Amino acid sequence: MKTLLIVYHSTTGGTRQMAQAAARAATAGGEVVVRLLEAPAAGPADVLAADAYVFAAPENLASMAGLMKDFFDRSYYAVLDRINGRAYAILVCAGSDGQGAARQLERIATGWRLKVACAPTIVCTHAQTPASIAAPKTVAASDIARCEEVGALLAAGLAAGIY
Ligand SMILES: Cc1cc2nc3c(=O)[nH]c(=O)nc-3n(C[C@H](O)[C@H](O)[C@H](O)COP(=O)(O)O)c2cc1C
Repeated sequence: MKTLLIVYHSTTGGTRQMAQAAARAATAGGEVVVRLLEAPAAGPADVLAADAYVFAAPENLASMAGLMKDFFDRSYYAVLDRINGRAYAILVCAGSDGQGAARQLERIATGWRLKVACAPTIVCTHAQTPASIAAPKTVAASDIARCEEVGALLAAGLAAGIY
């Protein structure tokens, strides 16, 4: 069976729910192995051992959150030119924007010469005040469904041999 690696970081739970939704849907078909790893626990060996990827990050200060960046900093050159052509998708959890983080993730994936499976999925939690930023997040069911579609798409593509 092929392997889907989902790497994420989350401080207040939004990105975690998105990544878990993608993992749940990808697992449901029973045709791929799904590895859901928090960014500090993931590294180049995990990237090499997978056949496709979901990268899930919060947007902080118009960038991907630092712990996701750290995962890429630790992994980028170790796997460069060894994962060309593998498929990926991006999930971003943001207060109101998300474009900056999505763009950064796309540039890294392009550098790795990965193949995009679908456009970035950006979920806005509408957190813009210090109190709402710090509060635990609950991602709406309609947004969870969008993340499930991403996981199902990648799993189906892997199972069908498209990726
Ligand atoms: C330090 C900090 C900076 C942030 N900067 C942005 C930003 O530039 N754009 C945005 O849309 N949201 C921003 N946010 C909001 C987060 O993206 C939002 O709270 C999101 O739900 C975090 O994901 P998480 O719940 O997985 O931790 C920021 C949050 C923090 C803590």
